[in-house]
Amino acid sequence: MTTFTKKISSLVLFAALLLSPAFVLADGGEHLNNKNGDRHPKIHGKSAFAHTHVRERGEKGDQDDDEGRGEHRTSTTTPATTLALRGLAITNVSTSSALVSWTTNVTSSSKVYFGTTSPLSLLAASSVTSATPVKSHSIGLTGLTASTTYYVVVASVSAANGSATSSQTSFTTAPLSTTNQVTLTSAVIATHNTQNSCWLTIGSNVYNITAYVPYHPGGVQAIVSLCGTDATAAFGGIGHSSSATALLANYLLGALGQTVTI
Ligand code: HEM
Repeated sequence: MTTFTKKISSLVLFAALLLSPAFVLADGGEHLNNKNGDRHPKIHGKSAFAHTHVRERGEKGDQDDDEGRGEHRTSTTTPATTLALRGLAITNVSTSSALVSWTTNVTSSSKVYFGTTSPLSLLAASSVTSATPVKSHSIGLTGLTASTTYYVVVASVSAANGSATSSQTSFTTAPLSTTNQVTLTSAVIATHNTQNSCWLTIGSNVYNITAYVPYHPGGVQAIVSLCGTDATAAFGGIGHSSSATALLANYLLGALGQTVTI
């Protein structure tokens, strides 16, 4: 082979090496390395490109499998995030409602299971669900029964990060208001013995005739002196007309001994 031919051959070989796949840099300089059969390619790049190294949970650490090849940097490891549920709290408890709140480390759905039996059966329990992915969860429960203990379990689901379920907690709804309830005993009636608050017992019923007192045809004083007492004899003794008796119905509180809301 002549010297000239040898030079041409060397040039052709050099050009072939330059064009071989081993020298073609993908994506403007990044070098895709998928050795070891990893499901996710480990993408290494030069400083002008973002470094991403997706690693499956539990995968053995191999910070840089191109060790010794100075053109590659060590990539950043981002472990998969597991959905975690925290801070379960039940607030705003009323006679018939409550607010169930918790947080999750990643956005996820919200579900509250609730019922009156413990341990709560998630299959049988009532539930309220919100599919909206949030980190701060807040679900209102309504239609509850007063003075009742409810058991609660909450759950969140994230398509990418799995699901989490709380342990069971409980709360008790408030009792119905007793502030306006009164039992019609003679002792209670006796405290309403003025023109401004005039209760009377006539027969077996108790009346609050305060509003009628100023309009009484027999005069205010005839009634006021009997406020707070059993006026059966006084009312009957006058010989009130049937219309006077009919008027009583407008002021009825209830039967003597009955508990009523006023
Ligand atoms: C509890 C004690 C009461 C006493 C001592 C008493 C006394 C009297 C008296 C003396 C009269 C006659 C007035 C007259 O003829 O000039 C009278 C009339 C009348 N009173 Fe009473 N009263 C009492 C309670 C009531 C009550 C609770 C009502 C109705 C809610 C009532 C309704 C009337 C009426 C409508 C008249 C007109 C006459 C008639 O329709 O009978 N009184 N009352």
